[in-house]
Amino acid sequence: MVKVVVIGSGNLAQHLIVAIQEAEQSEKSIQLIQVYARTVDNIAHLVPKQHIISDFQQLKEADVYIIAVSDNAINTVASQLPFNNKLVVHTSGAMPMDTLDSKNKKGVFYPLQTFTKNKKVAFETIPICLETENEADYMSIKLLANAISNKTYNINSVQRKALHVAAVFVNNFTNHLYQIGEEICDEHQLPFEILHPLIQETAAKIRSISPQQAQTGPAIRKDSKTIIAHETLLTHSKQKQLYKILTQSIQDNGKKL
Ligand SMILES: NC(=O)c1ccc[n+]([C@@H]2O[C@H](COP(=O)([O-])OP(=O)(O)OC[C@H]3O[C@@H](n4cnc5c(N)ncnc54)[C@H](OP(=O)(O)O)[C@@H]3O)[C@@H](O)[C@H]2O)c1
Repeated sequence: MVKVVVIGSGNLAQHLIVAIQEAEQSEKSIQLIQVYARTVDNIAHLVPKQHIISDFQQLKEADVYIIAVSDNAINTVASQLPFNNKLVVHTSGAMPMDTLDSKNKKGVFYPLQTFTKNKKVAFETIPICLETENEADYMSIKLLANAISNKTYNINSVQRKALHVAAVFVNNFTNHLYQIGEEICDEHQLPFEILHPLIQETAAKIRSISPQQAQTGPAIRKDSKTIIAHETLLTHSKQKQLYKILTQSIQDNGKKL
C-alpha cells in the first residue's frame, strides 16, 4: 500500500486527488491520507475536512508527498516540510528535480496533460513522467502512477524540460491559434463551431501519420495568390505577422535553418 499526501489545492491537485480517490475505491494499492491546502475551503468539496490541513507541522507519515503547487512555490514548500529523508516529488514539467530541498529524497511526478478545475479528464489515459534519485523510490512512484494511469515514462529533468517546450507548442500555441481563428470568425459573423470538425481531424490525423506528412494548405502548396489574399484580409498586424512566420516555417520545413 502506497500512502500519499497531496500538497496543493489548485487545478492539478484537484484532479490528482480525484484520480487517487477513484483508484482507492477500485481497491488499487494506494491511499490518500491527507491533503495540505493553504485555504481549506478550496478543497473541502473533495476531501473530508478531517483529512485537510493548512499547517505543515500536522503532516502525517506517508510514503510519498506530492507537491502540486505553482512552480515558483515548489522550493519554498519543500523547504518548509518538517521532516527528512522522505520521498517528496513535484508535478512540474518545467522545473528540474533539484528544485526540491535536499533534506528529503527527491522525485518528479509530472502528468502530461492540461488540467482545469471542474473540467473532467480521463486520468488513466494521461502519460505520467517519472524521475527519482534511485531505483527503490522509482518503484514507489511507479506503483502510484500505475494505480491512476496506464502510461508511465522514465524521463529525466533535461528531457522533461524539452518535453515541456514541445508541449507548449502543441498545446498553448495551438490553443492561441484557435483563439485567433475564433476572433476572425467573430469579425466575419461566422460561428466558431463550424471549425470544430477540422480541429478534431487535424489532431486525430497525427496519430496515424507524422505531422510533416499531414501538412496541407496554401503554405505547403506554395499557393502564392491565396497567401497574398489571406495576408490582405488580415487587418490586425499581430495576426498578419503570425501568418507570415508560420507560412515561412511550413515552407522551410525540411530545410536546414
Ligand atoms: N494545470 C496543469 O495543466 C498542469 C499540468 C501538469 C503539471 N502542472 C504542474 O502542477 C503544479 C500546480 O499547477 P496548477 O495548474 O495546479 O496551479 P494552480 O491551479 O495555480 O494552483 C497552485 C496551487 O499552489 C498553491 N500555492 C501557491 N503558492 C504557494 C505557497 N507559497 N505555499 C503553499 N501553496 C502555494 C496554491 O494555493 P492557493 O490556492 O492558496 O493560492 C494552489 O493550491 C505546477 O508545478 C504545474 O507546473 C500543472
